[in-house]
Amino acid sequence: MAYRSPSVPSSEITPKSVYLRRREFLAGAVAAGLIGVSGAPVGAEALKASRGPYATDEKLTSLEDVTTYNNFYEFGTGKTDPASNSGNFKPKPWRVKVDGLVSKPTEFDIDELIAQMPLEERIYRMRCVEAWSMVIPWTGFQLSELLNKVEPLSSAKYVAFETVVRPDEMPGQQGLFQPLDWPYVEGLRLDEAMHPLTILAVGLYGETLPNQNGAPIRLVVPWKYGFKGIKSIVRISLVDKQPPTSWNMQNAREYGFYANVNPEVDHPRWSQATERRIGEDGFFGSGRRKTLPFNGYGEQVASLYSGMDLKVYY
Ligand code: MTE
Repeated sequence: MAYRSPSVPSSEITPKSVYLRRREFLAGAVAAGLIGVSGAPVGAEALKASRGPYATDEKLTSLEDVTTYNNFYEFGTGKTDPASNSGNFKPKPWRVKVDGLVSKPTEFDIDELIAQMPLEERIYRMRCVEAWSMVIPWTGFQLSELLNKVEPLSSAKYVAFETVVRPDEMPGQQGLFQPLDWPYVEGLRLDEAMHPLTILAVGLYGETLPNQNGAPIRLVVPWKYGFKGIKSIVRISLVDKQPPTSWNMQNAREYGFYANVNPEVDHPRWSQATERRIGEDGFFGSGRRKTLPFNGYGEQVASLYSGMDLKVYY
């Protein structure tokens, strides 16, 4: 597979006719009963959740856009690849290991975990480093709730996350040329991980996560660029040093560990001052929205970084 930088959002270089054919394909898939009318995979289960804090009254991005315009390189580098190529992926049964510098290392079965966690709906803006954004109603729980269960030791300073490796089910992991090293890995500082805005999502639009969005469990950190939101997590480890992260290893000059949304720090190849909200006009010119510091969550999170030069720690 040829490497394609995230600077080239594939749907934006895909001719419109191909995109329209994709819509026809989706309609066909609905007719064939492979996916629901909404675009969610058949078999998605409803999740009971209370309404959580931090919701925005901005218009939600449509379920179709949320589930057909994705980045999930394990299924291919094109925006529609994850929806098209993830049909054979099996998000159940699933176990998540939480280990490292903790008193009670534990391996959780996903169904048992979901049953014991206080699920909330969190409506968050998501800002991709590629300068597009969405508003997504997630269902999930605070990562802090899970970390508290395993009791981090005082030596734990960071949290490292790992995605599953399953070339048999993930076509993007097959072949000689891979866009990233697998497993996809991500990390947070422990205080970022414990922040109430940081969630593990197990659903969106009130149902279990579609494969293409990171089933059965993925990270959501709304003040950071989307690539921090690692999908299909199998391991969470508490560690004492800053862990390696996939995009930083791929290109350290372009993708930092912190990756806080910051309109004042441009990507080396494009501006981060504005963004295109998916479903709205704004690829060029006046339809674009201004990007907000910390993606609009500065009031909640800016204090985590007091004393840090965010132009250096991008
Ligand atoms: N997680 C894994 N394992 N693999 C990926 O390629 N892409 C990241 C992130 N999580 C990615 C991943 C990027 S670049 C973005 S913008 C978001 O997932 C996209 O999430 P979405 O497709 O649900 O919108």
